[in-house]
Amino acid sequence: MKRKNKLLLCWLLVFAVYLLGSCVNKSEKKPNEIISGEVWRDINGNFINAHGGGILYHEGRYYWYGEFKGDSTYRLERVKSWECWRADAQGVSCYSSTDLLHWRYEGIVLASLPNDSLSDLHPSQIIERPKVLYNDKTRKFVLWMHIDSPDYEKAVAGVAVADSPTGPFVYLGSFKPNGLDSRDQTLFKDTDGKAYHICSTDWNKSLMVSLLTDDYTKPSGVYKRILIRQKREAPAVFKRKGKYYLLSSGCTGWDPNRASYAVADSMLGTWSVQGDPCTGTDADKTFYGQSTFVLQIEGKDEYIAMFDRWNKTDLIHSSYIWLPIEFTDHNMVIPWKERWSLDLKNIK
Ligand code: DGJ
Repeated sequence: MKRKNKLLLCWLLVFAVYLLGSCVNKSEKKPNEIISGEVWRDINGNFINAHGGGILYHEGRYYWYGEFKGDSTYRLERVKSWECWRADAQGVSCYSSTDLLHWRYEGIVLASLPNDSLSDLHPSQIIERPKVLYNDKTRKFVLWMHIDSPDYEKAVAGVAVADSPTGPFVYLGSFKPNGLDSRDQTLFKDTDGKAYHICSTDWNKSLMVSLLTDDYTKPSGVYKRILIRQKREAPAVFKRKGKYYLLSSGCTGWDPNRASYAVADSMLGTWSVQGDPCTGTDADKTFYGQSTFVLQIEGKDEYIAMFDRWNKTDLIHSSYIWLPIEFTDHNMVIPWKERWSLDLKNIK
């Protein structure tokens, strides 16, 4: 063999070994690793169908509630002003875990109603961003969700209650909180037991914070518009060291955009915008994700930011990105990590 060919062969071999090495490294998932954007499976090996979700900690277990999406995605052609991709709404799913790594499918805790075309829960309607709180006084689990018509014009909030975290939830109905439109939404329970609904309102121009009644099933009438005309959605609220944090996205349908967060001294106080907390690869597009929830690890000063990475033409196969939040005083940073180890004793 000529010297030149030998050299080429050597280089090819080196390249092949490198490729093999990087494939082996990538596929070798350690048992406690979280891998951003990959297919996440439950303990039975089925992929987790819990989009736009939130997590409730209750008596030693974490319960992850999310949108259970139907398996075909279609575009609603009659909506001309934006790309209205849809998957049939099949209800709200629940998975539970003690370590945030191994998830047991608990079933659909609020099912859609395929035989009732007039119901909010008909699969043709929107059932998005479900969040659940536990009410210590009534001992009920209270679920709030974004209910909408297929074209997202109805813009209401739906509420359901259950006696157990795994349901079944009984649907109480839907309404416009404080008479205002409500789309992307979340819930927050404060350390004093008061609970709040936070939603995009005024056609997504502003957010609204509503104090809920003591049983958490209705707005109390006390509310405030915040981040006025800043066009935010996908709100996720948490509290740390006496400050309230609100992470949100811009409004670009299923497409990614820049995240931002705001801080306040009280839920109904003044929220001051701090800017984008994301850093690293694709931070300006929120790592191709959109916020849905911030989970505080029970009893710890540790927080995980949860995002959906939407696949708009195949919504059921949208994936998840969870990243640990870092703090310096009251500033938060969410650095990109392709993979990281989640050990409830140490989530760094
Ligand atoms: C962005 C919202 O955050 C999602 O929950 C969903 O409603 C899409 N818009 C629909 O385009």
